[in-house]
Amino acid sequence: MDLSYILNHLGEERDQYFDAVSPPIIQTSNFYFKDVESLRNAFPNERDIHVYTRGNNPTVEILRKKIAALAGAEDALVFSSGVAAISAAVMANVHAGDHVVCVKKPYGWTDKLLNKFLSRYGVTATMIDGTKIENFIAAIQPSTRVIFLESPNSFTFDLQDIKAVVKLAKEKNIVTIIDNSYCTSLGQRCIDMGIDIEVHSATKYFGGHSDVVAGYLMGSKKMVAKIFASELLNIGGIISPNDAWLLIRSLRTLPIRLERIQASTATVVKFIEQHPQVERVIFPFSDSFPQHALAKEQMLWCGGLFTVIIKATDVAHVETFCNSLKRFLMAVSWGGHESLIMPACSFMNRDDLDLADYPYNMIRFYIGLEDPKVLIEDIEQAFQKIR
Ligand SMILES: Cc1ncc(COP(=O)(O)O)c(C=O)c1O
Repeated sequence: MDLSYILNHLGEERDQYFDAVSPPIIQTSNFYFKDVESLRNAFPNERDIHVYTRGNNPTVEILRKKIAALAGAEDALVFSSGVAAISAAVMANVHAGDHVVCVKKPYGWTDKLLNKFLSRYGVTATMIDGTKIENFIAAIQPSTRVIFLESPNSFTFDLQDIKAVVKLAKEKNIVTIIDNSYCTSLGQRCIDMGIDIEVHSATKYFGGHSDVVAGYLMGSKKMVAKIFASELLNIGGIISPNDAWLLIRSLRTLPIRLERIQASTATVVKFIEQHPQVERVIFPFSDSFPQHALAKEQMLWCGGLFTVIIKATDVAHVETFCNSLKRFLMAVSWGGHESLIMPACSFMNRDDLDLADYPYNMIRFYIGLEDPKVLIEDIEQAFQKIR
């Protein structure tokens, strides 16, 4: 199925809603049945029939079809946040006494899910440096049920060799889950590489406008049916039809937004890499990136995130640089239209991070949809303030 068809037509039964080009927002909690037999037959089939919007809603269903096809997966679910999707994926595949192997420095709330939340229910986790396959081999225990990957992560961009991990997991009958938010399903074909469950913060590139918080989960029909019947219906972290509609609208422009961001980021990275006030740039497609070859092998694009270590004598120096930027908003998250910075020196009061991984002169940049020339001029004037 071609991408243009998926984004513009798949799942859109226009003759059912007045031939409108844009689908309706079916803002209902409930669906009625004309007779007892139809209701009786609907109950065992809630994933496919419209009974109640916590399970299935027609607007959300359009989105589910599109994102499953986009990832090359059999089915998909949409959640009210990326964290809800991540939690559902992991919780569906562990019981008390089970063990999870997860890469170090994943998204913060993934770390807390495994090490603070699920540990209360008898699930243990080993956090490993996922850049080496030997570390996975060493960490697997007889009780390991899940390997959780995040390749690349969203600050230092450490990668895992996805195909090698999948091979190992399949030999040991372990479920593989990957947080693919950094690349999106277009930029890294995780399901094709054999991953069991792909999860996303759809808040990032999929939403793309910094106005929706949402999560996606894609996998086999069997896996999705299992998660639907338990974690989705029971914990109920569902998306509203209105937010699902916004995400359908965002999908139409996903490839062109990604192309623009990719081109602008390459331009800005090139400028920063040669800047005399820069110590180092961390960006998977840069020649200097330690896992550059692997990045080129398994990633089709690199996105708008990169991290810069600037030359600075103290924290005040870094703060002056960051506070001087006018075209970059200082904020968490990424993937929207607006360029952002996230300085590591803002983490100093946090007790949930190992600050050794985040030196004070490290700044994460995200390049949005603005003109890269404007962004480069802004960075240059901020560097001049600390010269
Ligand atoms: C890599 C990654 N995964 C997951 C999440 C969580 O997504 P959400 O904020 O949509 O719950 C984030 C959010 O920042 C993230 O950066």
